[in-house]
Amino acid sequence: MIRKVAALFSVLAVVAVISGTTSADDKKENKYTTKNFMQAVKTGGLHTKIIKGEATEAETKLFVAYVKALPTNKPPKGSAESWKKLTTALTKATETHLAGKEGSAEALTKAMSCKECHTPHKVYPPKK
Ligand code: HEC
Repeated sequence: MIRKVAALFSVLAVVAVISGTTSADDKKENKYTTKNFMQAVKTGGLHTKIIKGEATEAETKLFVAYVKALPTNKPPKGSAESWKKLTTALTKATETHLAGKEGSAEALTKAMSCKECHTPHKVYPPKK
């Protein structure tokens, strides 16, 4: 019971972080580049753990930080409008999922769709 309550509070804290403002420290240097996010998504399947609800608190925080940084990162290709639309949708889906809303896993899976974002915004083959 106590664990459950604690877990709920940590989720609320994450939601607060996601909707809060960026601290000065975060702005200084962006560790949360799209590339780093993609490596975590690819090798660790970070988003899969989040979607399944199997992520640790640290993993959840990391995912939230990446997602939050995404709209401010510049994609190597594609329009700013499209990038904003896709990344904002991902932020929203993440918030909803962490709040435990019904159907949110499907929504987040869709928002994390690799191809839908890579087609407009990723350069093939990747520049070295
Ligand atoms: C919201 C947009 C978006 C989504 C969703 C997305 N990607 Fe990406 N991905 C990008 C962009 C933009 C790049 C190019 C980054 C760059 O070159 O700076 C990229 C690059 C990559 C790379 C190459 C990274 C590197 O080191 O150059 C991998 C691997 C990758 N994505 C995997 C995935 C996988 C797997 C998924 C789905 C589970 C996914 N991505 C979903 C936007 C996205």
